[in-house]
Amino acid sequence: MKDHNSLAIYSRLLAYLGPFWKKAILLFVTTVLFAALSGVSLTLIPPFLNILFQDGNAGVSAGAAGNAHSVLVPGAVEKRIDGVRDRARDFIYEGSGKERLARFCVIFLVLMLLKNILGYARTVLTISMEQSILKRIRDELYGKIQMLPLSFFDGQKTGHLISRVTNDVTSLRGAVVGGLASIVQNSLMTVIAAAIIFYTSWKLALLTIVLVPLNIGLISMISRKLRKGSRKAQESMADMTSVLQESISGVRVVKAFGMEGFEKGKFDLFNARYLREYLRMRKFAELASPASETIGMLASVIILWYGGKLVIASELEPENLMMFLVAMLWVVGPVRNLSKLNSVVQEGLASGERVFQILDIRAEGEESGEIPIDGVREGIVYDKVSFSYENGIEVLRDVDLAIARGEVVALVGPSGAGKSTLADLLPRFYIPTSGRILIDGRDTATLELSSLRALMGIVTQETILFNDTVFNNIAYGMRDCEMERVVEAAKAANAHEFISLMPSGYDTMIGDRGTQLSGGQKQRLAIARAVLKNPQILILDEATSSLDVESEALVQEAVDRLVKGRTTLVIAHRLSTVRNADRIIVVENGRIHQAGTHEELIVEEGIYRKLYRLQVGA
Ligand SMILES: Nc1ncnc2c1ncn2[C@@H]1O[C@H](COP(=O)(O)OP(=O)(O)OP(=O)(O)O)[C@@H](O)[C@H]1O
Ligand SMILES: [Mg+2]
Repeated sequence: MKDHNSLAIYSRLLAYLGPFWKKAILLFVTTVLFAALSGVSLTLIPPFLNILFQDGNAGVSAGAAGNAHSVLVPGAVEKRIDGVRDRARDFIYEGSGKERLARFCVIFLVLMLLKNILGYARTVLTISMEQSILKRIRDELYGKIQMLPLSFFDGQKTGHLISRVTNDVTSLRGAVVGGLASIVQNSLMTVIAAAIIFYTSWKLALLTIVLVPLNIGLISMISRKLRKGSRKAQESMADMTSVLQESISGVRVVKAFGMEGFEKGKFDLFNARYLREYLRMRKFAELASPASETIGMLASVIILWYGGKLVIASELEPENLMMFLVAMLWVVGPVRNLSKLNSVVQEGLASGERVFQILDIRAEGEESGEIPIDGVREGIVYDKVSFSYENGIEVLRDVDLAIARGEVVALVGPSGAGKSTLADLLPRFYIPTSGRILIDGRDTATLELSSLRALMGIVTQETILFNDTVFNNIAYGMRDCEMERVVEAAKAANAHEFISLMPSGYDTMIGDRGTQLSGGQKQRLAIARAVLKNPQILILDEATSSLDVESEALVQEAVDRLVKGRTTLVIAHRLSTVRNADRIIVVENGRIHQAGTHEELIVEEGIYRKLYRLQVGA
């Protein structure tokens, strides 16, 4: 956590603790008590040894130890400490050996019991805080993803996005609450152990201090590697999720092209890469503890040797050397935990970075104006509109187009001409690179996004149905919709008949996990959705997939009913739609080439006549 960036990410994560400040204080207190109790159990070692060796009144403060702390502690405090210690000593050492042993065991038991109760409380608190914070981050992330502009999704693999909400957020877990509590606990335990160590023999303590920077240097090197490795592993996981998601949702195509083997191979490749990255990361992660333990052991041996010499020279009580050694070994635990923790925090920071990247993208609403709009009075005007997607290639060039209120305008043209793009600019799914789009003379950029979209009904080229009932799919976006209205809409869309034949009628589940529908049925459901919304502006991107004559007639009838009285932009692939339009606009290569009614255009030499002849086979 040395660089500024990590610090910023971490403090941002910590901000999520805000609402839990009461629990956080409680956690802090239990953690401190837990650490303190663990430390206190260490100081029981010399008296216990004394009892065992029947050495009645071995002055704990005598000799080297007494000298040692007088170096560190000022006079007045020393007196107070001495007083407390004398009383504690009297309590422990009073009475016969058996009595003392019994008393000692009781103290020990009570301490351990308390410690474990505190430990449990601490864990439960940690988990509940952690999970609440993760929930909040997941909610925020999902909310943000909903608000991101379409252009963001063009550059994203679905699997990667899913992975951010699932895997990355989970990786944050250790970094926030548990990490912080662990830092407090283990640092405190380290400090307590250090205090005991210094209190016992400062000479020995100084010796061990030399070994500390070595350990810290090693661990920070490992953690740097670890963070990089963790990021790579997470990215591989996201790639794998992507392959999985694509092949599952595209299973029909995979099977039709006999690409099962290819897809499996592709998955294998990413799976193997994940394994590689993961193992590499874990190798570093797991190196931290044995490395620091080895150093700890090395320290113990040196201390055993030097401490032994001090004891032989009567400069140190043997039981104090024992306590020193135990404290030394004991401190390895907290230090190791701190180093392990480092890896958890590093992993969390890497994930936090990716999560915040998304949270920091500007949402759609921030790019638009605030003027509400509740209807169309005159019409829509495209004023010198040009547009290019992120890749910079110009897809629309200087498009000028006026659609009067109630007019049905059909866009025709070859595939890739820019028809869908032109339509997508109207609800501001994308924002023109230059030029303006006006409704009743007002630039849509100045309008409130939600009210702008509320004016529009959009039937997209691909029909998207949700994994829900027929009723809810038609009433999507409507609150408390009455059955009658849904049925009415379905009737207008020529969908009522086939819905009535379904096993549970309007309550039949459709979508991924329900009844499957034909292309024409899906389209009619989408039309019913638009009918129910009853929009003033209608954008209809006809599906390119050809329907049989009967369903085409049914869909066409539904469309004719739908467009009546609405300002409509219809992207037409069927000639029948075109004939009924008030005006036909021919788009090619991002430009408007011709405009007029069917009768006008058919006599003109141009793209329209060519397209028409192609379609009717004349
Ligand atoms: N999200 C996108 N990112 C980059 N380029 C895109 C994107 N969507 C479309 N394009 C490109 O923009 C051009 C116009 O595409 P558009 O979808 O508007 O064509 P269309 O006229 O609707 O075609 P079709 O009749 O096949 O539906 C095409 O060249 C296409 O490759
Ligand atoms: Mg299209």
